[in-house]
Amino acid sequence: MSVFGDLASYYDLLYADKNYREEAAYVEGLFQRFGIPGKRLLSLGCGTGAHDLEMVRNGYQTTGVDVSANMLELAHQKHAALELEEHKKMSFHQGDMRTWRNEQQFDGIMSLFHVVSYQTSQSDLEQSFTTFRQHLVPGGIAVFDCWYGPAVLTDRPGNREKTWENDLLKVHRSTRAEMVFDENTVEVHFDIDITDKKQQTSQQLQELHRMRYLFLPELKLLTQQANLELLHHEQWMTGAPLNDSTWYATLVCRAI
Ligand SMILES: C[S@@+](CC[C@H](N)C(=O)[O-])C[C@H]1O[C@@H](n2cnc3c(N)ncnc32)[C@H](O)[C@@H]1O
Repeated sequence: MSVFGDLASYYDLLYADKNYREEAAYVEGLFQRFGIPGKRLLSLGCGTGAHDLEMVRNGYQTTGVDVSANMLELAHQKHAALELEEHKKMSFHQGDMRTWRNEQQFDGIMSLFHVVSYQTSQSDLEQSFTTFRQHLVPGGIAVFDCWYGPAVLTDRPGNREKTWENDLLKVHRSTRAEMVFDENTVEVHFDIDITDKKQQTSQQLQELHRMRYLFLPELKLLTQQANLELLHHEQWMTGAPLNDSTWYATLVCRAI
């Protein structure tokens, strides 16, 4: 189900303006507020490892899991560049969060930047939350975000264009979104044009990302079924209450 294929190579360029340090501080604040019992973190859908890196800098040990080999390749590059002390506190594994199992249990789980919304079917979600619970110590805390249903239905996704550029590359992305109402999903079609400025060559990529938007009653049920207590929800990064104009919801659960 890896949708982060060739596009993964450009992920860090596409999200260069995303402030992973501030986001990690926000997530760390939630871990502390809800009483994370220790410093061992599992990062499900870790991508290129940017949050993991910041959490290691905040004193945690991180184990990152992602289904995409291409995303993990960039994570491994970041890992290889670390000083020994930080290097020892970080690891990455390829795996699917629905089925990944490891003997270790963790004090906290983070699954950030819509990873849970990539789990589109009921069974994908049930399996993912079972993984959360299997890998948390009792009292362990999970923080994740997802697309929030009331806002997606009120402020529907439209078509967008965006361009990124650095010394080597220019990337243009056209996004077209289609609502799939009977599945509570959005099909996000990306058409990407990548120009290598030095070689004067260009490459076209297409990707389809299926995203599930979720509602609080089903999140309560899904987490409860997995023996997780849904402790808190708020708008991503602002901490304001959820409403019908903010797409990104943050959820906090505790392992029962
Ligand atoms: C938008 S990216 C977010 C990556 C990273 N968490 C970040 O904040 O930059 C979503 C990630 O979820 C991963 N992913 C989606 N479904 C997954 C699954 N079932 N198991 C593991 N990783 C998954 C993708 O490969 C991708 O790296």
